[in-house]
Amino acid sequence: MDNKVKPYSEHGSKKTQVAEMFDNIASAYDFNNQILSLGIDRIWRNILVSTIEKTNPRYILDVATGTGDVAIRLAKKIHSAKVTGIDLSENMLHLGQNKVMDQKLTDRITLQKGDAEHLDFEDDSFDAITVAFGVRNFETLVKGLSEILRVLKPGGMLGILEFSKPSNRIFAFFFNLYFKTILPLAGSITSKDNQAYKYLYESVQAFPEGENFLKILESTGYQKSKCRKLSFGICSLYTAYK
Ligand SMILES: C[S@@+](CC[C@H](N)C(=O)[O-])C[C@H]1O[C@@H](n2cnc3c(N)ncnc32)[C@H](O)[C@@H]1O
Repeated sequence: MDNKVKPYSEHGSKKTQVAEMFDNIASAYDFNNQILSLGIDRIWRNILVSTIEKTNPRYILDVATGTGDVAIRLAKKIHSAKVTGIDLSENMLHLGQNKVMDQKLTDRITLQKGDAEHLDFEDDSFDAITVAFGVRNFETLVKGLSEILRVLKPGGMLGILEFSKPSNRIFAFFFNLYFKTILPLAGSITSKDNQAYKYLYESVQAFPEGENFLKILESTGYQKSKCRKLSFGICSLYTAYK
């Protein structure tokens, strides 16, 4: 299934537009995450990392690594792990590389440019793979998930964090007021990109979440897929195995 909500224009490649958008907002990205999510995104990332840690992985791939937040958390928590992070956006990766150097983790974390839909790795290369808030941005969701499956070792775990829609109607009303109206306004001021946080809202609405996403994972070839709703369902953690 393709999520054809695109950041800037309905014409042209989603991938090019996504890369351009993250290049544009890179310098504001970490600040916005912390402020606009009230720090809750850190809790979600820590839950993802703890879940992956339980499988005791040595080689981990963080797809759509952005500014490397999950890659850094993985390396800090799992001391024997070597983490590779890939992303389309050079500006996001540049900021991530600076963070990796500041944390003195250059011997354990490698960040490089790469496309989730054409991964530059051999089959069965990684013990575990993570994607935090990335799959919604793929041009062709199944292509990205298939590539991730190809490079994951048999038995290895995939952990995905993605936004979802809260099910409680009262909570959803107030959350949507924030997510659809306040966040795009605040985000456009801090990131100077009018479209980025509008795209965030629209792409979350269009994303096949929960059971629908589990079905996509299973039909792509993953096994034992599960969904855990976090923070009243505004985020979901999906896990699955090869
Ligand atoms: C919302 S950011 C998430 C970054 C990071 N994982 C985090 O948790 O903060 C989404 C990232 O996905 C990247 N991305 C989107 N499509 C991609 C693809 N096909 N291959 C690699 N990266 C991709 C974007 O460039 C962007 O950096």
